[in-house]
Amino acid sequence: MMRIGRLYMSKDKHIAVIGTGYVGLVAACCLAKSGHRVVAAEKNSDKLKQLQGGVMPIYEEGLSDIFTAVTGDGRLTFTSDLKTALAHATVLIIAVGTPSLADGRVDLAQVNAVAVAIARLAEKPLTVIMKSTVPPGTGKSIFKRYFSQAKVPIQYVSNPEFLREGKAVWDWYHPDRLVIGCAAPEVADQLIELYSDIEAPKVTMDITSAEMVKYASNAFLATKISFINEIANLCERVGASIDAVAPAVGMDKRIGPHFLQAGLGYGGSCFPKDTKGLEHVSVFNDYNFNLLKAVIEVNARQRVTAVRKIIKALDGVTGKKIAILGLAFKPGTDDVREAPALDIIDYLISEGAKIAACDPLALVSAKQRFPTEDIQFYTDPYQACRDCAAVVLATEWPEFVNLDWEQIKQGMQMPCMLLDGRNVLDKDVIKRYGYRYEAFGRN
Ligand SMILES: NC(=O)c1ccc[n+]([C@@H]2O[C@H](COP(=O)([O-])OP(=O)(O)OC[C@H]3O[C@@H](n4cnc5c(N)ncnc54)[C@H](O)[C@@H]3O)[C@@H](O)[C@H]2O)c1
Repeated sequence: MMRIGRLYMSKDKHIAVIGTGYVGLVAACCLAKSGHRVVAAEKNSDKLKQLQGGVMPIYEEGLSDIFTAVTGDGRLTFTSDLKTALAHATVLIIAVGTPSLADGRVDLAQVNAVAVAIARLAEKPLTVIMKSTVPPGTGKSIFKRYFSQAKVPIQYVSNPEFLREGKAVWDWYHPDRLVIGCAAPEVADQLIELYSDIEAPKVTMDITSAEMVKYASNAFLATKISFINEIANLCERVGASIDAVAPAVGMDKRIGPHFLQAGLGYGGSCFPKDTKGLEHVSVFNDYNFNLLKAVIEVNARQRVTAVRKIIKALDGVTGKKIAILGLAFKPGTDDVREAPALDIIDYLISEGAKIAACDPLALVSAKQRFPTEDIQFYTDPYQACRDCAAVVLATEWPEFVNLDWEQIKQGMQMPCMLLDGRNVLDKDVIKRYGYRYEAFGRN
């Protein structure tokens, strides 16, 4: 033990992590690397088998090495059984999924199931840290309904996670801030101690406010994306260029340069569900969040705009082959949840197109999403684009951005359309190769 200020730092806590997705697995590996003993529970038997067999079920830069080290020295183990995970734990992290229901509400079934089980199984005092993204008010309700009824004292902390997939390990060690929402200062101290090797402002507040910070942050970032897409669409109509406009707008320190890239819009496992979730919270609380509604609508429309550009350029897509380069919702991940490419593929297939899809990491997950003959999957982008009338650059993987676009064009069919869904290619060079080039607001 070492003393830090008035806190004693213990590097060998027993920690349970429930759920080994992008959040839970990163937390489990990094906390074990910090010296704690971590037992992670996973209910998906295929994933559990992989984890117990030393195989990483997801791609996340830098995670594999940590995983090998901490499983090798026995600091991180895996189980399907919550009781086993809880056996020695004084701290438990919930990192299960909170997907959207069909009406946009947040599905709390996984979170509630874990909370019920913890309340039933806990046999010694426990601090429960909620890392899953849950709507404001959820923590208070979970505490009242489940944890206040447990046989032993359970402290509840909202500690929302802000990591970015593809950069999750870096973000674990270098977050902009750690948000700690709890009812008592001594509980916050426990988390400050737990994260003592992470240099970041540790911001403490009440539980509901911490939950709101997560939703407000994602909604704001989504707003920036939809806003710049609106400006790009207007640029097309007035003859301005978003390439000139967006960087100059971003130079204003009050605005900042991030999330001002016009294109197909946001996707992924967080922004779409969290914006819809917050919108539903607003409705439920009798509040009309008009701005957020518009952000969601603009994002959905952006995909349709992309498809309309393709249909117009090809004079209809029935029977035509179209390549989609990039299926992951962004580069650096194998996650295809709510990826713009998937919506575009759906639209194009429903219009009769044949799809050649290519991605360096996400083919396995994408194949499960499209069990249809209308789509073929490729690892080689040059093969994917052969005989295509159009190519859509949907994810800005560096290996796609840096393709030999002259060579790609030689294998294509007229009108050789290239839709740069991320506004990342050098449009003058691309046009010189003879493409019919389309993007968003790049006059
Ligand atoms: N993915 C991100 O970039 C990110 C970033 C910040 C916050 N979040 C939030 O964190 C939460 C988790 O996200 P994720 O992307 O890691 O989810 P995920 O779907 O990738 O992983 C969740 C895991 O929990 C497991 N699980 C569910 N119920 C379980 C149970 N009872 N016992 C054991 N395992 C169980 C599932 O099988 C799955 O493997 C979500 O609320 C999400 O909104 C995600």
